[in-house]
Amino acid sequence: MIRHIVTLFIATGLSLAAHAAPLPGDTAHGKKLYKANCVACHDDSVYKRKDRRIKSIEGLKGQISSCGHQLKKSLTQDQINDLVKYLNDTYYKFK
Ligand code: HEC
Repeated sequence: MIRHIVTLFIATGLSLAAHAAPLPGDTAHGKKLYKANCVACHDDSVYKRKDRRIKSIEGLKGQISSCGHQLKKSLTQDQINDLVKYLNDTYYKFK
């Protein structure tokens, strides 16, 4: 019985956490990664222009993965999270 209650508690806690979860990732680290890897092809004007293409957090993740593929090294999932967080906090501000 106690085990069931504990399981229920954990399950509820996790789903609440998932619902309210802020983006994973570290903005400061994302900024460093960004400066080191992303300014060769475009500066930040692509995020600030009126007709920027990215309209959602999912789109942002996809774009960062596809831009990342053009780098000579591959990005880890943690690095992608940091970049998404940095760009979202700084420019896109998707909820
Ligand atoms: C090999 C060149 C190249 C590199 C390196 C590169 N990008 Fe891009 N990126 C592009 C091109 C080309 C576009 C499309 C620009 C356009 O639509 O005018 C783009 C567009 C974007 C956009 C969409 C802007 C919008 O319209 O809202 C984001 C976000 C982005 N890049 C993020 C990154 C990040 C983060 C990195 C570093 C991991 C990176 N890029 C590295 C070539 C590159």
